[in-house]
Amino acid sequence: MPTPILKLRDLVKSFGGLRAVDGVSMDVQERTLTILIGPNGGGKTTLINLVTGVYKPDQGKVLFDGEDITDRPPHEIFRLGIARTFQIPQPFRKLTVLENLLVCYPNNLGESFLSALRRGRWARIEERAVERAFKLLKLLNLDHLWDQESWKLSGGQMKLLEIGRALMSNAKLLVMDEPVAGVNPVLAHEIFKALRRLKDKLGLTIFMVEHRLDIALQYTDEAYVMASGKIISKGRPEEVVIDPQVIEAYLGS
Ligand SMILES: Nc1ncnc2c1ncn2[C@@H]1O[C@H](COP(=O)(O)OP(=O)(O)OP(=O)(O)O)[C@@H](O)[C@H]1O
Ligand SMILES: [Mg+2]
Repeated sequence: MPTPILKLRDLVKSFGGLRAVDGVSMDVQERTLTILIGPNGGGKTTLINLVTGVYKPDQGKVLFDGEDITDRPPHEIFRLGIARTFQIPQPFRKLTVLENLLVCYPNNLGESFLSALRRGRWARIEERAVERAFKLLKLLNLDHLWDQESWKLSGGQMKLLEIGRALMSNAKLLVMDEPVAGVNPVLAHEIFKALRRLKDKLGLTIFMVEHRLDIALQYTDEAYVMASGKIISKGRPEEVVIDPQVIEAYLGS
């Protein structure tokens, strides 16, 4: 039996007179890669901001792992196990790949940790953090670059590093807004393969907005389509893309 880890119920979010999210209910099943697609301005990013606590809904509920998180602030939602990546990766450029992960380990936050890193005082760093970091680097195919300063990474490697940084928190759900935007197709496939590995090996659930359907579909378990604030279709990705309502929504946009 599939178990939903994230349940959205009748969510509404308006900006002035515009209902950007207009009564959305949906489930994201545990350990799936679930994608949200739809024409520009359909409300996808707004929906993700409701899940991660950036916006509060005007109506409706967000349930994560059985808990009502609707009114929780973003840092609490993060602590409960929802991590997020941003469209523009922002690693510390002068830190190495490994160090960039270590600074994201929840108990290592803060300047004293950073200065310890610079002075090479590795003893202060929890062994568990280093273990977690290397596990992630392996799954991301970045382990050979662990000692590389991150400004030397390619754009695609930077995106992989960003994913690793988000997952240092032991998150159960990773939320992403267009993770392969602006990345060439070869690298985009690499990123999706890495996401599948993370999902399988860490028991992670991934919920993402993505425009590059041609690339995303083969890695996707379930797809939802959003247009004008509403979910207009859902199902297996190959079914959803031939749904006449979906085709009409894209043509009309
Ligand atoms: N902070 C805001 N203030 C006012 N209007 C907003 C705000 N954020 C989004 N909107 C509007 O809400 C609607 C939905 O925007 P949203 O960014 O959620 O769409 P989207 O599906 O992510 O689009 P895209 O595919 O272009 O990223 C749009 O009409 C947008 O202009
Ligand atoms: Mg968007």
